[in-house]
Amino acid sequence: MYEIVKAHPLSETVFEMWIRAPQVAHNAQAGQFCIIRPDETGERIPLTISGIDGDLIRISFMAIGTTTKLLSTLSAGDHLRDVVGPLGIPSDIAKGPETVVIVGGGVGVACTSIIAQAAKNAGNYVIGIIGARNKNLIIFENEIRDICDELFVTTDDGSHGIKGFASGPLKTLCESGRKIDKVWIIGPGMMMKVTSDVTKPYNIKTYVSLNPVMVDGTGMCGSCRVVVDGKMKFACVDGPEFDAHQVDWDDLLVRQLMYVTEERQSIEYHEAHHECRCKKVE
Ligand SMILES: Cc1cc2nc3c(=O)[nH]c(=O)nc-3n(C[C@H](O)[C@H](O)[C@H](O)COP(=O)(O)OP(=O)(O)OC[C@H]3O[C@@H](n4cnc5c(N)ncnc54)[C@H](O)[C@@H]3O)c2cc1C
Ligand code: FES
Repeated sequence: MYEIVKAHPLSETVFEMWIRAPQVAHNAQAGQFCIIRPDETGERIPLTISGIDGDLIRISFMAIGTTTKLLSTLSAGDHLRDVVGPLGIPSDIAKGPETVVIVGGGVGVACTSIIAQAAKNAGNYVIGIIGARNKNLIIFENEIRDICDELFVTTDDGSHGIKGFASGPLKTLCESGRKIDKVWIIGPGMMMKVTSDVTKPYNIKTYVSLNPVMVDGTGMCGSCRVVVDGKMKFACVDGPEFDAHQVDWDDLLVRQLMYVTEERQSIEYHEAHHECRCKKVE
């Protein structure tokens, strides 16, 4: 059992949780994820390790379905049945000085802070761009501002920062002719597809963190397959970060919708019957 040490909302729909998981915390690096199972009958879901502090790891998640909504009801002192990790290949962070741009959209912003910190620690110049639909959905702004050398904040409706999408400041930076060595883009699939198109004409190495449905997280089940550079890859062991300009986005976006009916049925069932089994350990 894994103790939840801290848990609180970051916005209406996004929550953060610090979990005591020493084995995971001591081995985890930026870009890796863990698989969590809230209770013995629960589903396993992958979540990025968004922070590490001693024996603790942080997860930051959007409550959108059965398991994430269940997680959002838990608080400090509750326990999770399983936390498996760290999984996946760490971010490809080079020793500086390089100039890197790290772009986060929506809940994807939560996954950028740990990459920005690792890039900064490696002696790089780090430019952050974070975006959300509106001011209330912007998360981690202060934390990321403290890490980055420059930070741009965007909201779709202009209620905070620059009006428009996170791709806007990225386009401006590329057009300015400033030297950019690497870009990371993390967010919803469509946002990563569109935003990575910005860097393509400039031949800037651009990474995205892909989020296909995962089950075992160890390369055995094949559920997380993605097509990159025309070859089939398993995101859990070959990724989750891949060269954005080589990802077959159409394949990925279609596969992500495969279980929409089952996911809707599951949430309806659990909203009608759910009784939380993630008890406090006495
Ligand atoms: C490597 C990786 C890292 C991720 N990191 C984060 C994160 O840090 N924060 C965050 O909010 N989300 C993250 N996700 C997505 C997260 O796993 C899903 O939101 C979660 O599984 C939804 O489960 P649910 O039961 O609440 O919702 P459901 O209703 O079951 O599903 C809602 C949507 O979530 C996705 N999803 C469902 N099950 C899975 C699964 N087993 N694996 C992957 N995606 C699934 C599907 O696109 C689905 O349409 C990550 C996904 C991957 C693959
Ligand atoms: S999740 Fe099973 S192979 Fe990747």
